[in-house]
Amino acid sequence: MGLKIASGAAFAVCACVLAGAASAREVNVYTSREAELIKPVLDAYAQASGTKVNLVFVKDGLEERVRAEGAHSPADVMILVDVARLVRAADMGITQPVDSAALKATVPEALRDPNGRWFATTLRSRVVYASKERVKQDAITYEELADPKWKGRVCIRSAQHPYNQSLIAAAIVRLGPAQAERWLAGVKANLAKKPSGGDRDVARDIRAGVCDIGIANTYYMGLMLNGTDAAQKTWGEAVKVLDSRFAGGGTHVNVSGAAVAKNAPNRAEAVKLIEFLVGEQAQNLLADLNYEYPVRAGIAANATTKLFGAISPDPTPPAAIAAQRDAASILADKVGFDR
Ligand SMILES: [Fe+2]
Repeated sequence: MGLKIASGAAFAVCACVLAGAASAREVNVYTSREAELIKPVLDAYAQASGTKVNLVFVKDGLEERVRAEGAHSPADVMILVDVARLVRAADMGITQPVDSAALKATVPEALRDPNGRWFATTLRSRVVYASKERVKQDAITYEELADPKWKGRVCIRSAQHPYNQSLIAAAIVRLGPAQAERWLAGVKANLAKKPSGGDRDVARDIRAGVCDIGIANTYYMGLMLNGTDAAQKTWGEAVKVLDSRFAGGGTHVNVSGAAVAKNAPNRAEAVKLIEFLVGEQAQNLLADLNYEYPVRAGIAANATTKLFGAISPDPTPPAAIAAQRDAASILADKVGFDR
């Protein structure tokens, strides 16, 4: 009799633990990305996996926060924009290596850390916007931005913004430091105005006739053309995206990506979430929500993105570009780009 009760109790305890384990499956995501973009993707994951996703937005200093939290950090996955940040997070020792056959098979080698400490999830191309009315050509090289034919006709945001630091860093890798300096000084000499504002303002200024060409990320065209801001729609409609490449190379791209936090309390869940981010459903969502390019082969770009042509990324590995970011910042100062 006593035995029966004991085994009944044991069974009850066991069932309780199982139920507890099932409902406790969760993953903590730290991100600096905008809510409208990332939340639908994480909601899709929660629905597909049954895992509870706790989202923490950290606009500034995400990496420093994770480092400060140390061994007790609840962070499982960090979702970041810009390869330089992903590389820096790995260098700071706040990520951990992941050995996942699915991630290796899906994310091209140049778009992930060789030690699995970060993985790109989308590509973001930085291109030349041009006036539909005043610019005849449909293609350009980044090198041509320094051609005197564009004197007084170029708009761009600050050279110290990470997007431009990456582009200048890519030029350093491709052209070498001396030629990159001549190039950047040439672009500076062609500016229509002091660098200011953001990428969308480049389209605004082209529409207003302040400049004829400018540099901006492709996805802003999708956001302007399909957004709810009527003014921005007219900016987007006034410009076209030129097929922009380095001479003999391809289009400058940066990435957004994810890493498993060093002290992730839910490590297995963290890996599963990153695998989901490069899966078909999430890649389609990311392409459609923010007009970025999928890293997974065989996923179509968003319909608007497609209007700008297929992407042909420059073969320079993003991590090699990230390594020249400080040099790019110093070079921009040296040529007085923002003055
Ligand atoms: Fe952006």
